[in-house]
Amino acid sequence: MPPTASNSIIVTIDGPAGSGKSTAARTLATRLGFEFLDTGAMYRAVAWSCLQSEAPPENERLVSELTRSLSIQFQNGRLLINQYDVTDEIRTSAVSTVASVVAQHPVVRETLVDLQRACAEHGNTVTEGRDQGTIVFPNANCKFFLTARPEVRAQRRYEEMSGDSDRPEFEQLVEEIRDRDHRDANRSIAPLRPADDAESIDTSDSTLEEVVKMMEARVQKKSGPFG
Ligand code: DC
Repeated sequence: MPPTASNSIIVTIDGPAGSGKSTAARTLATRLGFEFLDTGAMYRAVAWSCLQSEAPPENERLVSELTRSLSIQFQNGRLLINQYDVTDEIRTSAVSTVASVVAQHPVVRETLVDLQRACAEHGNTVTEGRDQGTIVFPNANCKFFLTARPEVRAQRRYEEMSGDSDRPEFEQLVEEIRDRDHRDANRSIAPLRPADDAESIDTSDSTLEEVVKMMEARVQKKSGPFG
């Protein structure tokens, strides 16, 4: 197996919205005793800042400058932008939509990719996103690509947002997911796709426990004993 840049074990989990990757990645990280890196939260942080500063998300120059000026940090499972805790505020539907727009800008991606690699220097890491196995950690020890049928993914998002005052109608959510998928898969830079050496898992008809068990066994097999 090719070594990673540092001596850390890196497990990448990529996939579209609602594929179950966030919960699976977080649970897997806890089971393995690894750090957990939510890279979507970083793109959401940029999107949140855009909305705050009223920078148009399509304006590449402005958004690039904004991204470079931000301090984005994870602390005890919380996400801080310039020391302000945005963990909950980045989960709105408006932020989701803007995140997929700002994620198309090269400087935004370069800046966040540098940050992601720096985070993974701190120790064994399970990282989740769209490009973790393809671009950010091509030499990762173990790679997964999670998928699920579109209607299952929309239903999961709908349930996740049950307490939100701005929860869209189910049909609108399906439409939003389709639009985001299209943007994520068709952008010229780091499009959403499985790495050649990733294991694809369809989570539509599996429980979280089944998915995590499968991944855990795979990581143990590929990485050998660790602790
Ligand atoms: O996983 P998420 O819904 O929190 O991601 C938010 C947006 O960020 C989504 O539109 C895709 C984008 N993203 C990305 O382009 N690359 C990543 N590594 C993670 C997320």
